[in-house]
Amino acid sequence: MVAQQKMIRIYDRVMKSSKQRRYYGGSGFYNFGYWATGATSQREASEALVDTLLARLPKKDGRILDVACGLGASTKRLLLSYPPEAVTAINISAAQVATARQNAPGAMVLQMDAVKLAFADESFDAIICVEAAFHFDTRAAFVAEAFRVLKPGGVLVLSDILFRGFTSTISDRLGVPKANLVSDIASYRVLFGVAGFQDVKVEDATDNCLGGFRRSLVAWPASERAKGTMSLKSSLGTAIVCRLIAGYFGAVAKAYLLVSARKP
Ligand SMILES: C[S@@+](CC[C@H](N)C(=O)[O-])C[C@H]1O[C@@H](n2cnc3c(N)ncnc32)[C@H](O)[C@@H]1O
Repeated sequence: MVAQQKMIRIYDRVMKSSKQRRYYGGSGFYNFGYWATGATSQREASEALVDTLLARLPKKDGRILDVACGLGASTKRLLLSYPPEAVTAINISAAQVATARQNAPGAMVLQMDAVKLAFADESFDAIICVEAAFHFDTRAAFVAEAFRVLKPGGVLVLSDILFRGFTSTISDRLGVPKANLVSDIASYRVLFGVAGFQDVKVEDATDNCLGGFRRSLVAWPASERAKGTMSLKSSLGTAIVCRLIAGYFGAVAKAYLLVSARKP
């Protein structure tokens, strides 16, 4: 619980910071994005990540749940494909929920823990969860809850990160419960089968997501400087921070996964 409160405080603070908002083009996203479709900015890559997950749904009708919606940028993206009354989003942070309500008008946005979904059985036709399941205590508990609240034939799509297992440091700093430090993709897949899901597809998108993010972040200060939107002094300091962040995630993250699973 203490670790979870710390994680929420860190997200609430970092997501509001001016550098973060600039890097994400004011979109409100906070994920690594999907770079294989030719995105030229982090904002485009983050939008493409939602789109590539949505493309894994067999149909886009009925009700969809956006789990761990952050500041509501993913929820806003869903509104391009779904009417507002079909979209529900949840996040554990009250502050992020307040912002998400503004960013995704018409959608229902609720403060809720992903492992204790306050919805009746068989409420949703689809669930999307962008880059957050590694935080849930536990990921397996969330997968079971997702199965419960999906209608038969409903589909769960998510992007997720496997972190390397060397680490109480990661557990503490990134808010990743130790139970979520799955050793490999084969063991990861098993979680979904155990919950009852079928047609489980797990794609290793490490280079297309984490790799693209790291390259983009490292290149960002120089491109801002070239555009005249960042001073030389600021860009040099920012470049050091960006390299450290890119290096850190390169060291701690083992794989970035795109997942889909169907409730029979
Ligand atoms: C990396 S951010 C991703 C945010 C958003 N999905 C996006 O792509 O911009 C992880 C998010 O997970 C949320 N989160 C972490 N643990 C959660 C939980 N147990 N239940 C619901 N949300 C949670 C955090 O508050 C944060 O918004």
